[in-house]
Amino acid sequence: MAQLWKGRFKKELAKETNDFNSSITFDSRMYEQDIKGSIAHATMLGASGIIDKSESEKIVSGLEEILSDIKSGKLEIDMTAEDIHTFVEGELTARLGQTGKRLHTARSRNDQVALDIRLTLRDEADEVIKKLKKLVGVLCDKAEEHCDTIMPGYTHLQRAQPITFGHHLMAYASMLLRDISRIEDAKKRMNICPLGSGALAGTTYPIDRKKVADLLGFDGITSNSLDGVSDRDFCIELASALSLVMVHLSRFSEEIIMWCSWEFKFVELDDAFSTGSSIMPQKKNPDIAELVRGKSGRVFGDLTTLLTVMKGIALAYNKDMQEDKEAIFDAFDTVKMCLNAFTPMIETMTVLKENMRHAAAKGFINATDCADYLVGKGLPFRDAYKCTGELVALCIDKGLTLETLPLDEYKAVCDLFDDEVYKAINLEKCVRDRKADGSPCPENVLKQVKAAREML
Ligand code: ARG
Repeated sequence: MAQLWKGRFKKELAKETNDFNSSITFDSRMYEQDIKGSIAHATMLGASGIIDKSESEKIVSGLEEILSDIKSGKLEIDMTAEDIHTFVEGELTARLGQTGKRLHTARSRNDQVALDIRLTLRDEADEVIKKLKKLVGVLCDKAEEHCDTIMPGYTHLQRAQPITFGHHLMAYASMLLRDISRIEDAKKRMNICPLGSGALAGTTYPIDRKKVADLLGFDGITSNSLDGVSDRDFCIELASALSLVMVHLSRFSEEIIMWCSWEFKFVELDDAFSTGSSIMPQKKNPDIAELVRGKSGRVFGDLTTLLTVMKGIALAYNKDMQEDKEAIFDAFDTVKMCLNAFTPMIETMTVLKENMRHAAAKGFINATDCADYLVGKGLPFRDAYKCTGELVALCIDKGLTLETLPLDEYKAVCDLFDDEVYKAINLEKCVRDRKADGSPCPENVLKQVKAAREML
């Protein structure tokens, strides 16, 4: 397909140049946004009297036909074109002749591509937000169901204190809710229309930038033409927000992988969302979780790519910036793909409550509560801590737990102990009593679920 910039060149473009220079293989996915942007531009050109109203109308209906022909499959995008902008304009001119050539008045591909990416990423961001909300919804349902399911909470991967499984799940819901708000926040700064910045220095035509912005659902127009064409902050902000999504999904995946192991066996994944081994007949592997964990690296790489592409280029547009698209599209595609598989995997997994309860019974996770019991009897916490530490050492020696250690052993360490200690270290009670705001007791889990659902 011919280039848009033929005039001053005497020779044909080398195939190698076009192969290297062309972006159509990855920017063709913006065809709808490109055409919608052109429709808004042509409408404004007509309304402002920059081109004839009748020609503007012809261009708009020509573009609408091209859009519907691409969608229906009647028109195939020419993969030898330099980019999607060239393809659409070329096709319009092939259909309308001279009139088609008026579309690019008062516009450059530099502000056009800046517009197209913003429109595209706006849609992509909405899609990811929708998927994140779905996952948070699933977590809320599961957390509600397991608001009183006791499990050991960990620090250093050592059993630490008793929590509820619902509380653990809502920790991830909190992270994902922040992710949603980060993406929404980045969207606000992105949703400003750059069209009218021209190649770099605006335009002498009496364009109506606000009208174009309104037609395309933007909240305003960019205020500096150089920045308008060369800003890709929004790509970086979104890639950063998506990287954090992947950090969260990856941490969650790591836990799913551990919980599926025979060493933990806290959950069992549904057959439909796990895989087998070609040699070991007994295996049931959490491949989805492992791939999500692995794919986080791609998204972090995309963020690094974008930062590196942008850091050294002088104002305004430089061709380096064409590298923005593959990186940010890959980040979105990866996150969407991960969420597509991850959410139903969580939704369908079986929670093995008894195993969690069993694990909670070991590891002295009520030791803090035992110390707190002595504090209740008037002992300073630091002394109570020391006594309880001695009791734990005694239990380890004798192969007992705090629940099974006889009262006379307790009394030998500290005479403040009485029969009531067994009630105080009962795990159900330990969890029920953790009711400070943000703590894991069942009522607080339900409170978190309610708040999260309201935010959704
Ligand atoms: N394909 C180009 C890109 O994605 C479009 C802008 C081309 N502008 C230019 N001055 N060559 O960045």
